[in-house]
Amino acid sequence: MDRLPMLCMLLLVMTSSYEALTVVDMTFTLGADTVYWPGSPPFNMTILARGNQSGGYWYESNTFFTPEHGGTHVDAPAHFYEGGWRTEEIPASHLVGPAVVVDVKTKVQADSDYLLTVDDIKKWESTYGRLPDKAVVIMNSGWGSRYPNTSRVFNTNTPTIPATFHFPGIHPDTATFLTTERDVIVVGVDTPSTDLGQSTTFDTHVILARYNVIGLENMANVEQLPARGATLVVGVVKLRGGSGGPARILGIVADEDPFGNRTGSASSLGV
Ligand SMILES: *[C@@H]1O[C@H](CO)[C@@H](O)[C@H](O)[C@H]1NC(C)=O
Ligand SMILES: *[C@@H]1O[C@H](CO)[C@@H](O)[C@H](O)[C@H]1NC(C)=O
Ligand SMILES: *[C@@H]1O[C@H](CO)[C@@H](O)[C@H](O)[C@H]1NC(C)=O
Ligand SMILES: *[C@@H]1O[C@H](CO)[C@@H](O)[C@H](O)[C@H]1NC(C)=O
Ligand SMILES: [Zn+2]
Repeated sequence: MDRLPMLCMLLLVMTSSYEALTVVDMTFTLGADTVYWPGSPPFNMTILARGNQSGGYWYESNTFFTPEHGGTHVDAPAHFYEGGWRTEEIPASHLVGPAVVVDVKTKVQADSDYLLTVDDIKKWESTYGRLPDKAVVIMNSGWGSRYPNTSRVFNTNTPTIPATFHFPGIHPDTATFLTTERDVIVVGVDTPSTDLGQSTTFDTHVILARYNVIGLENMANVEQLPARGATLVVGVVKLRGGSGGPARILGIVADEDPFGNRTGSASSLGV
């Protein structure tokens, strides 16, 4: 009888029973290499203090400047709709919701101008069930691995010229479906824009904004979330008068309830 494998298995079970939550950091680090839309003023962080002080203690303090729309960030509805919520007006209840991850990697590999369709959503629903109320719908296009190389993120040799951008987005018809046929509070993408790179009219932005749906752009690690079962938390800066802003986005996957009962881990949901 093999005692070692049994011991290992017991140890594994004991260890995993302490991991009630998996927290996925869906945020790229904000800094000098953050990817901004061309024309944005540059990120600027200045050290105000970093060193031993005469009082005998260590002290660090900085100031930083950033455009709202760069790196992992929120688009507030006011960004593309007059009268839509500005950043500080987004209710907290619209910053947390059940995450739905729609995988279109294969289609995007064949066409970098791919637009997420209503059929992609319906196909997801045929496997996992109807979108939950107050859903957070996230596109996994496989684009996140390109970040922070601007040529690769915008998919062009001229990353300062938007007319040359080629990255996937969400079809305006899909935005209409999600806002009128389903109850969606947030739409997120692993690309720099909810509209595709070639868009000049930003129809998806406008539709989402008109319905006060929050946009998330340049999301990191979307492939680490299960297709369903996670909760998304959007920790956006509460900027007065803002049209968006940098956000710490967390995906929370509950493996167990606090009483030790297993619920839906990523693996048990078949991802
Ligand atoms: C960066 O910010 C500091 C502090 O506000 C300022 O003194 C400096 O001129 C800024 N640098 C650039 C390149 O804008
Ligand atoms: C700050 O003070 C500590 C404690 O005296 C010392 O170990 C450390 O080397 C100092 N750091 C610098 C950068 O001077
Ligand atoms: C960014 O991607 C381009 C195109 O693939 C490549 O030529 C370049 O070396 C990359 N830059 C960095 C800093 O990795
Ligand atoms: C799991 O749920 C059941 C039924 O609600 C409960 O009796 C039990 O104590 C819970 N905890 C564990 C560790 O099974
Ligand atoms: Zn934006």
